[in-house]
Amino acid sequence: MKTTRPPIYFEKDLLEEEKFLKILKKHRGRFALITDEKVASLYSEPFLTFMKEHEFDCTLVTFRGGEKSKTRKSKEMLEDKLLEKQMGRDTLLIALGGGVVTDLCGFVASTYCRGVPYISIPTSLLGMVDASIGGKTGVNVKEGKNVIGTIYPPLAVFIDFSMLTTLSDKEILCGSAEIVKHGLIADRRLLSELVEDLDKWQQRDLDFLKKIIIKSCKIKQKIVNRDLKEGGERRILNFGHTIGHAIEAIEGYTLSHGEAIAIGMIVESLISQKLSYLDEGDFDEIYELIKQMGFPLKLSDKVTLSSMKNAMGHDKKGERAIPRFVILNGIGKVQSFKGAFCTTLEESLLDEVLGWMVAEFNR
Ligand SMILES: NC(=O)c1ccc[n+]([C@@H]2O[C@H](COP(=O)([O-])OP(=O)(O)OC[C@H]3O[C@@H](n4cnc5c(N)ncnc54)[C@H](O)[C@@H]3O)[C@@H](O)[C@H]2O)c1
Repeated sequence: MKTTRPPIYFEKDLLEEEKFLKILKKHRGRFALITDEKVASLYSEPFLTFMKEHEFDCTLVTFRGGEKSKTRKSKEMLEDKLLEKQMGRDTLLIALGGGVVTDLCGFVASTYCRGVPYISIPTSLLGMVDASIGGKTGVNVKEGKNVIGTIYPPLAVFIDFSMLTTLSDKEILCGSAEIVKHGLIADRRLLSELVEDLDKWQQRDLDFLKKIIIKSCKIKQKIVNRDLKEGGERRILNFGHTIGHAIEAIEGYTLSHGEAIAIGMIVESLISQKLSYLDEGDFDEIYELIKQMGFPLKLSDKVTLSSMKNAMGHDKKGERAIPRFVILNGIGKVQSFKGAFCTTLEESLLDEVLGWMVAEFNR
């Protein structure tokens, strides 16, 4: 199945797939498979055998992986490895891994020899439904996450559902948060389907997972295709993230991104309700779904009213350090404020919801 710009192909087994082979055959030069050590231990062998069988000249380049490796240093290390192998402008990079791999590999691709093409093969749920779509690449610096990077879409994205089987429950939960977000901002039916068959999701019924993942990918792709450079509408993808990013930073990144965003979405739904854009019943439904999905919803003593306000002042998405929030207008829609898809809040409302959050989740 295919959608547009760049195409996303959804596959049962990538290496059996004609489309994949066709794209590789179109490329006349060399290939470098870039992946982290864990994903390499699981998937690089069949991949490299496949490349050899089809007589593609492919070099494996690995790095340690994990968020701590998403640095300028890792980018340099990957570039050095490519240079050592004398890979030139005719190189096609293949990013095989979670969001860290696709963000880093995409960034390398965007500057190596002034830009070489790459293909994304996201292997984590978060990578499939979020990180591999939209062309954002980058690395973290001490001043913040993804501060240095480019917008450089891949030639194509290939999603191989069989790779979901080796993910931990925690990784599945992390990606689930972004799927819930896509439903909340753009498609109420996606959430209803998830709620109705939540047991199928939790038991990892592959057909059900596929259906939800494909819908979720299409939502993100539609939004970014309308606003690639984040001039306006793309901001709606930040729903839950103003609060979520602040929590992640205060907790020293001990909570997963999905766990922090889950709380962020509850609090930002509450803000939407307080501003009278969301019914109380809808707020309860959102809170209940997020609870039922199994997010821990726990914060440490470090998360206080003042630490939150301080951390949100440093959120790079907030212009002039005033936190801005995406507001739901019912479930599945976002409120526009004169064409902007986010708004600032009265200090008293911000204090009220943050106070509620600290009392509700500090356990
Ligand atoms: N570019 C974007 O638009 C965008 C959007 C959202 C998130 N991101 C970025 O994505 C990153 C997080 O992505 P992530 O959660 O995938 O992190 P990750 O790449 O670190 O993957 C998480 C863990 O899962 C492992 N893994 C990946 N696929 C696996 C598989 N099939 N089986 C077993 N283990 C597997 C990895 O080795 C890693 O240990 C963050 O850096 C975030 O900034 C980017």
